[in-house]
Amino acid sequence: MTSKLHFFLLVSVSCAYLQVSMAGDPDILTDFIPPPLFGPPGGNYFTFTGMRALVGAPFPTTFKVLKASMDEFPALEGQSVSYAVLQFPNGTVNPPHTHPRASELLFVLMGSLQVGFVDTTNKLFTQTLQQGDIFVFPKGLVHFQFNCDAKNTALALSAFGSARPGTVKVPSAVFNSTIDDQVLALSFKTDVATIQKIKSGVSG
Ligand SMILES: *[C@@H]1O[C@H](CO)[C@@H](O)[C@H](O)[C@H]1NC(C)=O
Ligand SMILES: *[C@@H]1O[C@H](CO)[C@@H](O)[C@H](O)[C@H]1NC(C)=O
Repeated sequence: MTSKLHFFLLVSVSCAYLQVSMAGDPDILTDFIPPPLFGPPGGNYFTFTGMRALVGAPFPTTFKVLKASMDEFPALEGQSVSYAVLQFPNGTVNPPHTHPRASELLFVLMGSLQVGFVDTTNKLFTQTLQQGDIFVFPKGLVHFQFNCDAKNTALALSAFGSARPGTVKVPSAVFNSTIDDQVLALSFKTDVATIQKIKSGVSG
């Protein structure tokens, strides 16, 4: 009886381990996913030219993200990778957010960035990155990036381990998602008026 139980536990633990180690985009059973309707794809289908817009363009005046994920670049479907270019004017922040489906590998191409993530025990891991540095944000954890330089812009390239990492912005998920004011007031141990004040700032 006991050995049967041990065997069952061993099998369960192995299965759980297998599931964890295989977590990521589902594998496809073809080399790639061709575009629907059109004939066999050529090299164009595997090329994303959306970032050409950055070349020689003036730097934006607010924080801006340009994505090359499955929605913008359909050939990524089933390939478990995607990119985003992050442009930070001086003094701007990419507010706390998570990517539920991917780890993020951020490469500072220009300027410097203060970055951080919070683990499931609420411990903050933070670092000031210089041009040329790479930082990894573990999958699903809340993180931010801040260009604290008052004079210079910062530019970063982020790679994701999913063709569609998804983004949950913490301020909007909590305060701009029509969660009941009462629920938020109780959760944050404050009153409805304070919640409404925060909501008016986040929804704008
Ligand atoms: C960004 O730089 C401009 C021009 O130097 C300056 O006027 C502005 O105050 C800076 N912004 C921040 C948030 O530091
Ligand atoms: C807040 O929600 C509204 C309605 O869904 C949306 O139009 C708006 O863009 C959201 N604002 C922010 C800052 O996410």
